[in-house]
Amino acid sequence: MSKQILVLPGDGIGPEIMAEAVKVLQLANAKYSLGFELSFDELGGAAYDKYGVPLADETLARARAADAILLGAVGGPKWDAIEPALRPERGLLKIRSQLGLFANLRPAILYPQLADASSLKPEVVSGLDILIVRELTGGIYFGQPRESKLLENGERMAYDTLPYSESEIRRIARVGFDMARVRGKKLCSVDKANVLASSQLWRAVVEEVARDYPDVELSHMYVDNAAMQLVRAPKQFDVMVTDNLFGDILSDEASMLTGSIGMLPSASLDANNKGMYEPCHGSAPDIAGKGIANPLATILSVSMLLRYSFSQVVAADAIERAVSLVLDQGLRTGDIWSAGKTKVGTAAMGDAVVEALRSL
Ligand code: IPM
Ligand code: MG
Repeated sequence: MSKQILVLPGDGIGPEIMAEAVKVLQLANAKYSLGFELSFDELGGAAYDKYGVPLADETLARARAADAILLGAVGGPKWDAIEPALRPERGLLKIRSQLGLFANLRPAILYPQLADASSLKPEVVSGLDILIVRELTGGIYFGQPRESKLLENGERMAYDTLPYSESEIRRIARVGFDMARVRGKKLCSVDKANVLASSQLWRAVVEEVARDYPDVELSHMYVDNAAMQLVRAPKQFDVMVTDNLFGDILSDEASMLTGSIGMLPSASLDANNKGMYEPCHGSAPDIAGKGIANPLATILSVSMLLRYSFSQVVAADAIERAVSLVLDQGLRTGDIWSAGKTKVGTAAMGDAVVEALRSL
């Protein structure tokens, strides 16, 4: 039976980078006889324009029925003024939550060819290979109550709530330990247990889960220190597991260690490894439509899709190898360009990866 892949290009540079990722996916589909059938729909601002909501019920139903989802990026100034509940980002949060995609894997790997694109010294980042495991369907992103209101004295006030239940912490901690087990066997749990009640529970539950993983070395770090350590000595980390908000922030920080957020893919998985795959970067409205965005994070998201949802290790490895070959050829989009390299646009980069994959 064919496997259904739902493609949601989204907003901003989303459609441009997705066009390239789809070329690569289609080639892999043919080359490795994967039996994938692709269908397309809208999410975010594009969905608001088409359906009047950032995630239409029919799109959600299609996403539920699909075997995996490939997503570009959502958001942009065009939709800044609409009411908060209809903003493009709400569509993204809703699809994550409705599909139970609680485990967000964000690798930060430095391609050796890009060592000079990092803002840190090459010796600090060379060989960097970190995996951030971010809890994605709980915490302050979804906590209730949340409210903006007017106080009696006429002052405006607003608040959010940061809840975590034991089971939510346990299942993401398990993902962290499982990932560490097949990598460098080191897990750093990041929290703010010196201040937050939710973090104190987080730490206690992670400790309990650790008893099942005696082969993994567990450490705990406060999030402020972790942010500092990531730029001081990032190679001390193997796998980091953390909550939704801390993971959002730390994964952006970690991405810069690798030269550009334009290189980083991600996977958001449910309890059965059904997943949605997307680049870590946003919709970059400032460069949308110019054909200069880096498609590699989305192309590498295709590789993660093959690896995590379909166990197609050979095809997944081949795509990563094709990306590496293209970097060897000296091709660079603007975000990863450095003197002496060949600057190319989005489509030329995608075509080069397709050619490299074809040659493997
Ligand atoms: C991310 C993004 C999203 C998030 C936004 C677009 C809602 O920053 O995937 O990291 O905060 O989760
Ligand atoms: Mg983010």
